Amino acid sequence: MTEATAMTEASPIPAAPTPPAKQHLPDAQTVTQVTHWTDRLFSFRVTRPQSLRFRSGEFVMIGLMGDNGKPLLRAYSIASPAWDEELEFYSIKVPDGPLTSKLQHIQPGDEIILRPKPVGTLVHDALLPGKRLWFLATGTGLAPFASLMREPETYEKYDQIIMMHTCREVAELEYGRQLVESLKDDPLIGEMVGDKLIYYPTTTREPFIRMGRVTDNLSSGKVFADLGLPPMNPAEDRAMVCGSLAFNVDVKAILEGFGLREGANSEPQEFVVEKAFVGDGI
Ligand SMILES: Cc1cc2nc3c(=O)[nH]c(=O)nc-3n(C[C@H](O)[C@H](O)[C@H](O)COP(=O)(O)OP(=O)(O)OC[C@H]3O[C@@H](n4cnc5c(N)ncnc54)[C@H](O)[C@@H]3O)c2cc1C
Ligand SMILES: NC(=O)c1ccc[n+]([C@@H]2O[C@H](COP(=O)([O-])OP(=O)(O)OC[C@H]3O[C@@H](n4cnc5c(N)ncnc54)[C@H](OP(=O)(O)O)[C@@H]3O)[C@@H](O)[C@H]2O)c1
Repeated sequence: MTEATAMTEASPIPAAPTPPAKQHLPDAQTVTQVTHWTDRLFSFRVTRPQSLRFRSGEFVMIGLMGDNGKPLLRAYSIASPAWDEELEFYSIKVPDGPLTSKLQHIQPGDEIILRPKPVGTLVHDALLPGKRLWFLATGTGLAPFASLMREPETYEKYDQIIMMHTCREVAELEYGRQLVESLKDDPLIGEMVGDKLIYYPTTTREPFIRMGRVTDNLSSGKVFADLGLPPMNPAEDRAMVCGSLAFNVDVKAILEGFGLREGANSEPQEFVVEKAFVGDGI
């Protein structure tokens, strides 16, 4: 037995001190891509927990660790479809917002917290079968429809899908415009989309080819005239609504005026509504 062997057997070489482990966030997912669309809007993609199942259109709680060491979480619609291997989000940047003042600085490789409990009302199960499906959104309210526009079930269930999206300015439409544009050539659902998807973007505060609030374009009948469609009716039309509380309230009244009834997961009807954000004082 050599001296060296004897030493190994009798007194093992002490293990090198372990470097302090990188502190992982609870329910951590890694950022894979970030795109800034305007100084108020960005989108990002993160890894998807293997066990996460959700229905296109649902939302989850995501966030970062707060300065007090506790998770700072907010509701976010999943903007990617249920079949995607990553998760995509489309986000506002609120300058003094507790979460988004920090979240807007994430980079690929960073971690965010994602609580894997998806919920929401903007799902196909909450609507009765119909002929046309209207997606009505303002601002980041587009996010659940970014998911549903990439969902095969949308095209299996309806003959026509109309995406009405309104923002104050043209640049705020760009994420949605590029998404819609990319669908035609999408290898997975491009063929299903075909010419079923009708995109109707408008602005309200900057000149654009089409202007006006969703509410005004519905109640004046302009959108039906522009697209050569009959006015909404409960036998054929279904709608999903996502915007500010004021928007949702106004759209709901218009849809009810057309004879549509609000549904829920537990009781499917002709339209469903979800808030895109909780406004000041609400
Ligand atoms: C069901 C649900 C789904 C949501 N999905 C999304 C989403 O997909 N993308 C997203 O960006 N936000 C979404 N939100 C809003 C989100 O939860 C946060 O409010 C937002 O990320 C801002 O967080 P914050 O902590 O920076 O500011 P907060 O303190 O949460 O908000 C501060 C103020 O900013 C304004 N604000 C907040 N969110 C928005 C917004 N999205 N658009 C315009 N003004 C806003 C409101 O006036 C609010 O009072 C959703 C909210 C709900 C209830
Ligand atoms: N977008 C910006 O450039 C901007 C910049 C700085 C701060 N902010 C603040 O950020 C918050 C959110 O702004 P946002 O632009 O994302 O959302 P928003 O104020 O809800 O406006 C988004 C779109 O929805 C329309 N809209 C608003 N209320 C409606 C209703 N009741 N019925 C139908 N359409 C309605 C708006 O039209 P109208 O234009 O006709 O209202 C606008 O085209 C606001 O509090 C705003 O003060 C926004």
